[in-house]
Amino acid sequence: MSDLISKLEWRYATKKFDPSQVVSQDKIDFILEAIRLSATSSGLQPYEVLVVTNKAIREQIKPHAWNQGQITDSSHLLVFAAWDNYTAERINQMFDLTNDIRGFKNEGWENYRAMLLNTYPQRDAETNFQHAARQAYIGLGSALIAAAELKVDSTPMEGFDPVKVDEILGLKEKGLRSVLLLPLGYRADEGDWLVKLQKVRRSRDQFVTEIN
Ligand SMILES: Cc1cc2nc3c(=O)[nH]c(=O)nc-3n(C[C@H](O)[C@H](O)[C@H](O)COP(=O)(O)O)c2cc1C
Repeated sequence: MSDLISKLEWRYATKKFDPSQVVSQDKIDFILEAIRLSATSSGLQPYEVLVVTNKAIREQIKPHAWNQGQITDSSHLLVFAAWDNYTAERINQMFDLTNDIRGFKNEGWENYRAMLLNTYPQRDAETNFQHAARQAYIGLGSALIAAAELKVDSTPMEGFDPVKVDEILGLKEKGLRSVLLLPLGYRADEGDWLVKLQKVRRSRDQFVTEIN
């Protein structure tokens, strides 16, 4: 079978990157494509990914991310930024894109569009943002697996102040709010307290319930 599980065992939330090692563009593109192809609720893709390589900007982010060294030592910093709200315009854009790409309009699909238009924009912005943010987490999962597949190291991160990161990256003006950071790179030979420790997970029995 696939060697994916051994790659997922190899993956860990990297604590120290080797700042001299750069992830090649084709590997970054592979990871971004895995994120882009992720499932989202109603296919709305309500988030974007920023790829930050700019050192000065990463230095600015670091103090607002618990001073975590991975922000600046990694090769690339991905920022997952979710829509701050669902608007009729955003919903229509995705439904129109679907019709454009598929080359036809479908009554069931148009009824579904109307249902979302009658529901989402009327909800409060925070509820909509939280829903959009959950979709970004699915993309994070894809990114973690895709990076492991290429033996690229990564650190999923919620440990940052999103308001500050939004300010630094000008996300508010774009109707986005930062949700997750994902530094990518290669683990350092020394100085990572976690790298040699065993992975800890509850046993399958404690995790999976089979209902036959
Ligand atoms: C959503 C999310 C946020 C996390 N935030 C951080 C973080 O800010 N800094 C960090 O070093 N690790 C962070 N982690 C890593 C987790 O602590 C780690 O995934 C968990 O302990 C399991 O270990 P493993 O990923 O090494 O197998 C985060 C993980 C996830 C999924």
